[in-house]
Amino acid sequence: MSGGGGGPIVVTRGLTKQYGRVVAVRDVDLDVGAGDRYGLLGPNGSGKTTLVRMLLGLVFATSGRIEVMGRPIPRRTGEVLPLVGAMVEGPGAYGHLSGRANLALLDASGPGRGSRRTRRRRVDEALERVGLGGVDDRPVKAYSLGMRQRLGLAAALLHAPRLLILDEPTNGLDPRGIREVRDLLRALNEDGTTILLCSHLLGEVEELCTRVGVMDRGRLVLQRDMADVRAPTGRVEVRTPDAARVVALLDGRVEHRDGDRLLVRAADAAELNARLVAGGLRVTEIRPQRHTLEEVVLSLTGASADRFDRPAEGA
Ligand SMILES: Nc1ncnc2c1ncn2[C@@H]1O[C@H](COP(=O)(O)OP(=O)(O)O)[C@@H](O)[C@H]1O
Ligand SMILES: [Mg+2]
Repeated sequence: MSGGGGGPIVVTRGLTKQYGRVVAVRDVDLDVGAGDRYGLLGPNGSGKTTLVRMLLGLVFATSGRIEVMGRPIPRRTGEVLPLVGAMVEGPGAYGHLSGRANLALLDASGPGRGSRRTRRRRVDEALERVGLGGVDDRPVKAYSLGMRQRLGLAAALLHAPRLLILDEPTNGLDPRGIREVRDLLRALNEDGTTILLCSHLLGEVEELCTRVGVMDRGRLVLQRDMADVRAPTGRVEVRTPDAARVVALLDGRVEHRDGDRLLVRAADAAELNARLVAGGLRVTEIRPQRHTLEEVVLSLTGASADRFDRPAEGA
C-alpha cells in the first residue's frame, strides 16, 4: 500500500464521511506519494469532492485518519495549508473585482511576503502561467466559465505549492484550454509539485496521471500506478501486408485477424518481429497490446460503469 513515486504526501486510513443516512465516503485508504500525478476518478456523486474537502480540513470526517505531509488533519491544518494549492468545487472569487485584483487580495491574505513589486510579480506570473497574462480589467462576473477556472488555478498556484489539489480542473474549458491545463500540470509536476486531481473523465486521468484511484459509491475500489494498470496483456498487435502467410507461419498463435491486422499470443514484440522478418514477412506496425484504464474500471464497477463519461472529441 505504498504511495507512488516518493515518500507519502497524503495518507488516509479508514476515512469515512456520513451525511445523515448518506455515506459519501466509506473506509478510504488513500496513498498519494511525492511526485505523483494522482487522479481520483469516479462518476458524479461517488465522493471525490467530499474526500478532498476532508483533506483540506474544510469538512470533518465522521471517522478515520488523515495525514497530509506528515501532519494530522484537521489538528494541524494550519501548518499544511501554506504548502498546498487548492481549487475545490469551482473557483470562488469576488465578481465585482478583476481577476488581478482578486489574486492581489488573496496574495495579501496569504503567507507570501515581499515588497509591493514582488507581490505584483507573483500575481502576474500566476496569471501568465494559466494563460490569463493578457487579461484586461473586466470584473470576474464577466468572465467565461473557462476564464474563471483558469483564475481558480492561478489562485492555487500563487504560492508555489508542494501539493496541488484540483477538483475537476478542466470543467468548462474547450479542447485547447484542456490541453493547456494538462501541459501546465505536467510542467509543474516535473518541477516537483505533487498533483491530486478529481475527475469524472476517464480519458483525462488516463492521459495525465501516473497513479489512479477509482471511487465508486464512496469506496476507493482501485488504487494503482498507471504503469501497472497499463500492463501488457501477453498479446502483440501486428499490421502486415502478408497477413495470410503470418497466420500460416505462427500456427495457431494468431487469436484474431481483421484484414491486415493480427492479434498474436506472444510475450515479446521484438522477438516476434525478428521471427517474422527472418521468415521474409513484412511488418508495417507492431506493438505489445496493453490493458486500458477503461477496461480495468469496467471490470471493477460493473453495471454502474456507463456513468463514466468519455472526454470530448479532440480533448
Ligand atoms: N454537504 C452535504 N450534505 C449532504 N450530502 C452531501 C453533502 N455533500 C455531498 N453530499 C452527498 O455525498 C455524496 C458524494 O458527493 P460528492 O463528494 O460531491 O461526489 P463527487 O465529487 O464524486 O461528485 C453524494 O451523494 C452527495 O449528494
Ligand atoms: Mg465533485
